[in-house]
This record gives sequence, structure tokens and C-alpha cells, in this order.
Amino acid sequence: MSVLVTGGAGFIGSNFVLRSRRLRPDVPLVDVDLLTYAGNLENLASLEGDGGHVFVRADVADRAAMEAVFAEHRPAGVIHFAAESHVDRSILDATPFVRNNVLGTQILLDLSRAHGVRRFLQVSTDEVYGTLGPTGAFREDTPLAPNSPYAASKAAADLLVRAAVHTHKLDAVITRCSNNYGPFQFPEKLIPLMIANALEDKPLPVYGDGLQVRDWLHVEDHCDAIWTVYEQARAGSIYNIGGNSERTNLEVVRRLLAALGKGEELIRYVADRPGHDRRYAMDASRLKADLGWSPAWRFEEGLDATITWYREHRGWWERVRSGAYRDYYERQYGRRLPA
Ligand code: NAD
Ligand code: TYD
Repeated sequence: MSVLVTGGAGFIGSNFVLRSRRLRPDVPLVDVDLLTYAGNLENLASLEGDGGHVFVRADVADRAAMEAVFAEHRPAGVIHFAAESHVDRSILDATPFVRNNVLGTQILLDLSRAHGVRRFLQVSTDEVYGTLGPTGAFREDTPLAPNSPYAASKAAADLLVRAAVHTHKLDAVITRCSNNYGPFQFPEKLIPLMIANALEDKPLPVYGDGLQVRDWLHVEDHCDAIWTVYEQARAGSIYNIGGNSERTNLEVVRRLLAALGKGEELIRYVADRPGHDRRYAMDASRLKADLGWSPAWRFEEGLDATITWYREHRGWWERVRSGAYRDYYERQYGRRLPA
């Protein structure tokens, strides 16, 4: 029985698809991705010829297109990653966030119900809880208080999932994770942006005082936690997924400069992000107590491994930065992607 993965050409989705094909070869995956600027089929190039992975270019917010996918592939489950994911972009224009993250989720919920999907997993974020002071951590019962348009769109989607469980008895669960890092992350997010800039001796733009705190989660740990929840959680449950790795942005930037042998003169303090959340921290004890999951990666080791990956895959991020990564689709499918 296949699982429908949405957003499987993005950062976390492609890691999830690659890891799942390796560790769970008996689960066929149908991978739906619109290939927005953040979707990169090159991430999945190693799966060419793998009959257990079917890629469909489609928009989760296009009901007719998604109806056709459900009708043809009859997935037993849905794991929903597809979203606009960058806070800074949501500040510039929130409309695609509402369309892709909110409407897209509702359409998937409707079709999951209509087609008898047995489990729906919504991939959400710690950002739905808002921001923390210097102490404490988000729990699953922390009130939702999203601060950015991105976070608000994810909170809206979570509430639609909740409503589908409550009203329609859909079997759905929600995971909320902290900041991910690892291979194939689009170099607009902190860690890959800073690594790529440092490797090119370009300035590293640190927002405000750089003392904002994020809890870093290696993408492999996240993928394993998602399978744990997908397979074992009770319908309607919510689980936080954290990395036990709170660091200030400056700590992260300094550590990666040192690892790359670059000087701190590359750091540039720039204007702060409007509405910038000061601190995120996750209490993921429910996931450990109920389902036995805890992260395997230590942050410094994970960061070193990630730095090595970006050093060894310079062509990948150079093609992303130049826009040439979209040519892969043309070579593969003989059609140009719309701009
Ligand atoms: P990403 O931006 O790297 O990838 C998103 C993918 O979704 C892209 O491949 C894009 O083409 C696709 N997509 C966007 N709109 C679509 C649509 N309408 N139809 C089909 N596909 C569409 O994002 P990511 O970092 O991999 O995040 C994946 C999920 O995890 C998102 O739901 C995000 O909110 C959540 N999340 C991410 C992080 C993080 O640190 N990256 C943290 C918490 C939660
Ligand atoms: P980001 O990777 O955009 O993730 P999020 O905003 O979802 O947590 O940013 C992580 C942190 O790094 C956040 O506090 C903003 C900060 N940041 C910078 O200081 N400079 C940058 O250029 C970027 C992209 C982020």
C-alpha cells in the first residue's frame, strides 16, 4: 500500500523520500511536488529507475489535479510536507503561504476522507507556538500564538487538521518540529546560506544582535521521528520533535566559520527581521515517553557533517544559487518549468 508524500522535492521531503526508500523499500511512495523555487528534482536523481518512487508534478492546492492523483494511486496514507516554508518570504508576500499551506492542506484533508486514507500526517512547526523568553520550552498544549505570516499559515493548517479529526473522524496526526538542518537545504535558510557565503568569502548577514535561539534538529532524526509517529501514534495526537540543541545564531555562525577556517570578519550585522521570534525550544518528552523516540545526532557532529556535505556538493548549491537547478526538469521531462 503506497504512501503519498507531498513536497518530496524540497529539503525535508527529499531527505524523507531518499531515507524511506533505503530503510523501508517495501513502502511504495507517490511523491507530489509542484516544483516551486524550493523544489529540486536533482535531490532525487539517485532514485531514477526505482519503481517504488513515482514522482508527480502537481499542486496540492489544485483540487482537480489532486483528485486525479488520489484516484490513480489510491494511497493508504498521506505525509504532508508541501508548503511555502521561509519566514522572510512570508513577510514580503503572504499570499502563496495562504494558498499552498492552508488551502492545500484542506484539499488534501478532503481527498483523504473521500478516498478512505487510513492515516494523514501533517508536518508542522514549533513556530505555531510563537516565541519564548529565556527559559521554558514549548509543549504540545502550549497555546498557538504564531507571529509571522508563515507561522500563522501553518497554525491555520494545524487547526484544519484538528477539525477534520473532530468533525469527520479522519485519522490524522500532527508533528511539530524545530529548525532542521542537513543536506539539500535551500541556501536561503540560516545554516546553508552561511556555509555557502563563507565558502565564497561573502559576508554572513546576521539579523539584529544574533542572540536569537533556535533548537536544531538533524533532518535524519526528523524523518525517523515522522515514521515513528506515522506508524504508532493515536489518531488525533500531536507530537513535538526537537533536537535538544539550543544555540544562538551567533554560536552557529561562529562554529561554522571556525570549521571552515574562515575569520569572523565575514560576519555582518544587518537590520533585524520584523517580528523576529527571540527563542524557540521544544519539550519533546511526550514523544520519548509514548513512542520511545529521541534524537540520535549531536548538533556539533551534525553541523560538521553538514558542512562536509556542502563542501562536497558545491555544484548542487551553485546550481541552486544560479537558478540552473531548474534545467534538470527540462532535461528530465523535455519541458521548461514556469518561472
Ligand atoms: P522547502 O521549502 O525546502 O520545500 C517545500 C516543498 O514543497 C518544495 O519542494 C516545493 O516545491 C513544494 N511545494 C510548495 N508548495 C506546493 C504546492 N502548492 N503543491 C505541491 N508542492 C508544493 O521546505 P522544507 O524545509 O523541506 O519544509 C517541509 C515542511 O516542514 C513544511 O511543511 C515546513 O513548514 C515544515 N517545517 C520545516 C522546518 C525547517 O526547518 N525546514 C521546520 C519546521 C517545519
Ligand atoms: P531561518 O533559517 O530563516 O529559520 P526560521 O526563521 O524559520 O527559524 O532562520 C534561523 C535564524 O537565523 C532566525 O533567527 C533568523 C536568523 N537568520 C539570520 O540571522 N540571517 C539570515 O540571513 C537568515 C536567513 C536567518
